[in-house]
Amino acid sequence: MPDSHPMSFSRAELTTLVMPHMQNILGDLFGGHLLSMVDQAAAVAAIRHAGGPAVTASFDKVDFRERIKLGALVTCSATVDYVGNSSMDVSVEVYSENVATGERRHTHTARVVFVAIDDTGKPRRVPRLVPETPEERERYERARVARTERRR
Ligand SMILES: CC(C)(COP(=O)(O)OP(=O)(O)OC[C@H]1O[C@@H](n2cnc3c(N)ncnc32)[C@H](O)[C@@H]1OP(=O)(O)O)[C@@H](O)C(=O)NCCC(=O)NCCS
Repeated sequence: MPDSHPMSFSRAELTTLVMPHMQNILGDLFGGHLLSMVDQAAAVAAIRHAGGPAVTASFDKVDFRERIKLGALVTCSATVDYVGNSSMDVSVEVYSENVATGERRHTHTARVVFVAIDDTGKPRRVPRLVPETPEERERYERARVARTERRR
């Protein structure tokens, strides 16, 4: 396994069309479905970085700021922002796109912690994370501070 990966190596994007079976009783995207999409996008980024299986350890607060309509395209964009020994802090930005008007809105941000595991289900060390651009270094620093604050 490599000793490190650049932050861009594991970036993941998942786009889904909001179909009728995904709606709540108001005809919008069901919140639980959105969480599942966020978890999947975060899992892809975490598994790529870890180079093997990883499990969801925690979900941070998720604010549902806007309803997402049936027929919209929803994109979950996931980035590994920080890593410990076996844990990875992944942020997921959610965008909804109205294909008729071309309008794209940033509807949610979620933070998820994944832990890489070995064949026996025990935590396994992951490669170091290397932020390369100024934006990535800022992300890394923000996640490092957030992790320190979570531990207080
Ligand atoms: C997540 C899991 C592997 C942690 O195992 P554990 O033996 O309790 O882990 P440890 O206490 O040794 O901690 C290992 C790492 O996980 C992190 N961790 C454990 N629980 C965590 C939590 N709730 N939130 C954030 N990080 C957590 C620790 O900080 C540590 O990080 P580090 O290695 O980077 O320092 C284990 O609790 C588990 O398998 N949970 C079920 C996961 C699951 O079913 N997810 C849904 C389906 S994918």
